[in-house]
Amino acid sequence: MTALAETAGELRPVLSRVRLGYDTERFPFAAVLRRDVFRVGSLESLHRDIQASRASRGQRTELRTRDNLAARALVQRLPDSAPFFQLYHEFMRLVLAPVAGRSLSYSNRPKIRVHFPQTPSVSSFHADAPVTERVDQINFWLPITDVHGSAALQLESDYGLQDYAPAPLRYGQALIFDGGYLGHGSVLNTTDVTRISFDMRFGYRGATTRAEGIHLMNRIVRRLDRLGRS
Ligand SMILES: [Fe+2]
Repeated sequence: MTALAETAGELRPVLSRVRLGYDTERFPFAAVLRRDVFRVGSLESLHRDIQASRASRGQRTELRTRDNLAARALVQRLPDSAPFFQLYHEFMRLVLAPVAGRSLSYSNRPKIRVHFPQTPSVSSFHADAPVTERVDQINFWLPITDVHGSAALQLESDYGLQDYAPAPLRYGQALIFDGGYLGHGSVLNTTDVTRISFDMRFGYRGATTRAEGIHLMNRIVRRLDRLGRS
């Protein structure tokens, strides 16, 4: 067990992860990406559209890491004013901030991930705090497609155990987890669905301590439990 995991064991939130359900009619991330970026009927089968288009041009249809990155770049290069990013900020203001109950600091641009079937991990196993040195932050992960099995984010069951297992989510749920300390990552996607997701870290505005991160995580867990939204 690492020193960080031992620290987390001494001082830890009541739960290391919680699901947050939201209304996809109000926050239609998938519809906006289909309309403004990918122009396909279903994001889950985006790989099939790309493969069919390549086959029709006589090109090889096998998808690789560089295809994941190229698809993600289509979203990342949208300007800050794009409806997708506006929707993201509205979500943080209208859904996440009220659950947190205090003003938050969060990434201005989330990280987009596109994980096509049969392509390798898009994020190897790690915990964030040793890299970011931000002990006050909590992780937010929102799939824009339903995710299960090897298309999902993989999490440890407890700090330092490295027993990674998928966290299945449907579109309309986000995962809030203690990713500064809890190991997470992805694996070869052996499902037949494309996974598109975005993630970011957040904390109380002005926070600097692990205790503040734990307070934030606990508050979210308890509020979601009370609201019956987890
Ligand atoms: Fe991470």
